[in-house]
Amino acid sequence: MTYDVVVIGSGIAGLMAAIEAKSETNSVAIITKSNIFKSNSAVASGGINAVLDEKNEVEIQKHIDDTMKSSKELGNKKAISYLCHQAPLIIKKLEAYGVAFDRDENGKILQRSFGGGSSKRTCFVGDSTGSAITQALIKKAKLVGVDFLVNHFVMDITKIEEYISGVVALKKLDSTVTVYPAKAVVFAGGGYAGIYRGFSTNAQDCTGDLLSIALRAGMSLKDMEFVQFHPTGFAKTSYLVSEAARGEGGYLVNSEGERFVNELGTRDVLARAIFEQIRSGQKVYLDMRHISKDILETRVPSLYKSAYTQVGVDLSCELLEIKPVAHYSMGGIASSLTSSEVKGLFICGECAALGVHGANRLGGNSLLEGAVFGELAGKKAREYAFNKEFLPIDYNVVIKNMDLVQRIFDGDCSKNFNAMRISVGKIMFDKAGIFRNESSLQEAFDYMKYLRLESNTLHCIDKGKHNNVELISILELRNALELSEAIILSAMQRRESRGAHFREDFAFTCKEGKDHVLIKELQKGFFKVHYEESGLTKWLKKILT
Ligand code: FUM
Repeated sequence: MTYDVVVIGSGIAGLMAAIEAKSETNSVAIITKSNIFKSNSAVASGGINAVLDEKNEVEIQKHIDDTMKSSKELGNKKAISYLCHQAPLIIKKLEAYGVAFDRDENGKILQRSFGGGSSKRTCFVGDSTGSAITQALIKKAKLVGVDFLVNHFVMDITKIEEYISGVVALKKLDSTVTVYPAKAVVFAGGGYAGIYRGFSTNAQDCTGDLLSIALRAGMSLKDMEFVQFHPTGFAKTSYLVSEAARGEGGYLVNSEGERFVNELGTRDVLARAIFEQIRSGQKVYLDMRHISKDILETRVPSLYKSAYTQVGVDLSCELLEIKPVAHYSMGGIASSLTSSEVKGLFICGECAALGVHGANRLGGNSLLEGAVFGELAGKKAREYAFNKEFLPIDYNVVIKNMDLVQRIFDGDCSKNFNAMRISVGKIMFDKAGIFRNESSLQEAFDYMKYLRLESNTLHCIDKGKHNNVELISILELRNALELSEAIILSAMQRRESRGAHFREDFAFTCKEGKDHVLIKELQKGFFKVHYEESGLTKWLKKILT
């Protein structure tokens, strides 16, 4: 099957891209590795930031300023300005596609406070905003004729010189490797915070497969050290406690019942403050006992219900124990707003490093980024594919992946990939987590290197070809290990603290260090990591000569 445009990922960015890429005459498919309803966007709870009046330049400028401030000088002004100016228009588009945002008695869209915001600008659908948006977009995508190829695990892209020519994917149904020739491809497959398994709000398979694919295609990743830890997950299960809870007035208190931080600060500051409390032996709780049950049931219904069903807590009269958890990756595939290192390949959403979040993302800006830049990527992909011919497929890539699958099926193995996967999450959280330093990073790196070698010896115990869960888990683990090395090496490169990246041994922000860290895999296991040639690099060169 061939497609003019193939979009990988069925979150908000992928859906917007596919809808925008589709025209009356072209063919567009979304490839997704499980079912279409499963994505990080679908579980994004609290809301989407936007100034509602596109003529209100004062408020739009405040949105730009808040986003810039939170990025800790690593934000790209052009990208942020585009994001904030498009926000009012994207909300209108989402409404037209059927998203029913919560409204006041006069019919005006309600907006709540989110951390780091100088105005109330987070639009919401209770605390299930992402789910409401993705459901509406799925309907729209089907209506305009987008095909959905579900349960397809993308393994690689094929290209001819620097031009994209197709996508290699494994069909979960029968474990066959297949190739989809495409004139243009959009990567919208999400981030890598799920690598911190056991300490993450993400589903366990949100481990950045597309970033590994980009590395194998010779592309660069950017700012991989910036992993956002959401201040509040359930202490027991890491389930996301939406920022909506604090936006609606919830407090954070320690075992002594003391509030110790401004609950509406940015996520980096809050996550550290909470983690410090926990390290010092305190427990930390969300306290919503002063908020009426009516508000809890209407404004944060999912949280209210989940607290009760998952951990037996009635938020209207009890405290909920929380902990910070990996939630989002600011780092991603290096790309500009409208092109990438591979011609015909467009990157958007959490897997992209477009520069809108810098070192720290504002809550409510990720759904917005997905919608705004998904729309743009889809438009660019449609224009690029128009009147182009299909390019030849590089069958070496296809055969390499068929061989890999065969190798994983062949051979015996007594190693437990699941135990390995859990230990990756724990080591990454302990050694490359909220606080890091040179020796903890080195330990994490040595361990990941060892596991990467071990992962070559993993084989399926179950040899059945139908929906083989082990096969996919092994492939995901291989990708996760490649990316863990990239995260750690980037964190070692950045010898300062900035936003979500806190180095205990370099607990200061380098005034001149406004550079991005780039990383590339020259050959398997050999990375080149360096600062982008500007700011700090130039300054260092100057003082060293
Ligand atoms: O806390 C939340 O509801 C998450 C929102 C976000 O990550 O933007």
